[in-house]
Amino acid sequence: MGIDAIIDALGGPTQVQALLGVGPSAVSNYRARGQFPEYARVRVWQALKARGIMVDPETLSFEAPNTPQQDTPQIGTTDARAISKLPLEPTILLIISGGIAAYKALELIRRMRDRHWHVRVVMTASAQQFITPLSVSALSGNTTYHDLFSLTDEAEMGHIRLAREADVVVVAPSTANLMAKMAYGLADDLASTVLLATGAPVLIAPAMNPFMWANPATQTNKKLLQQRGVRFVGPDSGDMACGEDGAGRLAEPKDIITATEALLPGNGRLNGLKAVVTSGPTHEPIDAVRYIANRSSGKQGHAIAAALAKEGAIVTLISGPVDEPPPGGVALVSVKTAREMETAALAALPSDIAICAAAVGDFSVANESAQKIKKSDDGEAPTLALRQNPDILATISHHQVRPRLVIGFAAETENVVDYAMAKRLRKGADWMLANDVGQADAPVFGSDYNLVHLITAMGNEAWPEVSKQEIANHLIDRIATEFNR
Ligand code: C5P
Repeated sequence: MGIDAIIDALGGPTQVQALLGVGPSAVSNYRARGQFPEYARVRVWQALKARGIMVDPETLSFEAPNTPQQDTPQIGTTDARAISKLPLEPTILLIISGGIAAYKALELIRRMRDRHWHVRVVMTASAQQFITPLSVSALSGNTTYHDLFSLTDEAEMGHIRLAREADVVVVAPSTANLMAKMAYGLADDLASTVLLATGAPVLIAPAMNPFMWANPATQTNKKLLQQRGVRFVGPDSGDMACGEDGAGRLAEPKDIITATEALLPGNGRLNGLKAVVTSGPTHEPIDAVRYIANRSSGKQGHAIAAALAKEGAIVTLISGPVDEPPPGGVALVSVKTAREMETAALAALPSDIAICAAAVGDFSVANESAQKIKKSDDGEAPTLALRQNPDILATISHHQVRPRLVIGFAAETENVVDYAMAKRLRKGADWMLANDVGQADAPVFGSDYNLVHLITAMGNEAWPEVSKQEIANHLIDRIATEFNR
């Protein structure tokens, strides 16, 4: 596949810039050289794969299908879409680490095989204390790999091939130790080496004692991994084998299967796309104990983040202080002020999609006091000097690596559609979801329902009043159409 065809397939040079985090001149250089630099090939390969285009990861040329079929296009054909329709059995690389829940991996393998998935398994040394490679191989129908330095294993299937040939890597159960190794990029055994070398989506199903799970070290590692696009399923809460009760149980095999399914190439409609979502209010400090806030609950933004993740997008949710629990499968960045939200949003670029659903405070206090402001005896009230906050939506819309689709919300109390249309143009967003927040009998803030208009360059569409969840689903349908998914 020629470099021009690859750039077109990825949505054009701007998308390639965003994908690789490079400027326009770098992409021109690649075109002139007729190839991507070596370091970029895995990302390009992944992005093509996410779009259903199967190429060789080393050369970025078309691969031969696993099972030759009649009527299948030949290698070298230029019909990428025809290639993508080849029926390929997905390859799952299951990594089993040590823990009492390891026995549940056997049930998981059976369910994967029931779906005709090709299952390769890597076991850590401690996993082998709980179940044997023999029983794993009997169920998976494949050799089980465990030794980084085994000549036999390496001759049969090198660790790089193991990592590269997986469509999805599932770590189930994952110990706190393996999560920590992933977070730090350690590669001292086959499991951690493969995890470092893979370009495939990684799904972690943690299982550990509730105190180990709640430990700030584990939670920090989890957040870090999520920010890098690693997905999590579970842990569930309940009675533990160790006799304690709390969050730490391995997710049910059926839930691990569902989460894996969403990550298979071509399954989630937004598979592989990166999205950043802002949600909730901001708190702008007045002094050490007081702040200016608003009534946003974060329900709409969180529902959108959850719906994006369900469709396979890699989601960073940047949320102000809310009571709403973070949805599973998204990387949560908690912030307080508009400036913190802006920093986090820009750090999440490049991204394919940006959705600004946060009710960002328009002003912050310029003369913020480090100490609590005291009442004065003469009854004089202090004067707060306000300064305007950065406009995150406008900044993202005009950013050098602008997401392909930028969506904002416009909460208005009158002339809802007209104001929102003007706001779309002023802020440079592609779409605006406009809602009327002025109806005393149907408040939007905190409610589970919302009545919105979708405003695009093509005009304005009124959506029926439905739950915030349904609005999120409806929006995801539109986004999938926009990305031809
Ligand atoms: O200007 P207004 O607050 O009405 O614009 C609303 C839209 O702009 C929302 O999408 C909101 O998330 C976004 N916004 C922002 N940064 C601000 C103010 C609003 O991203 N400082």
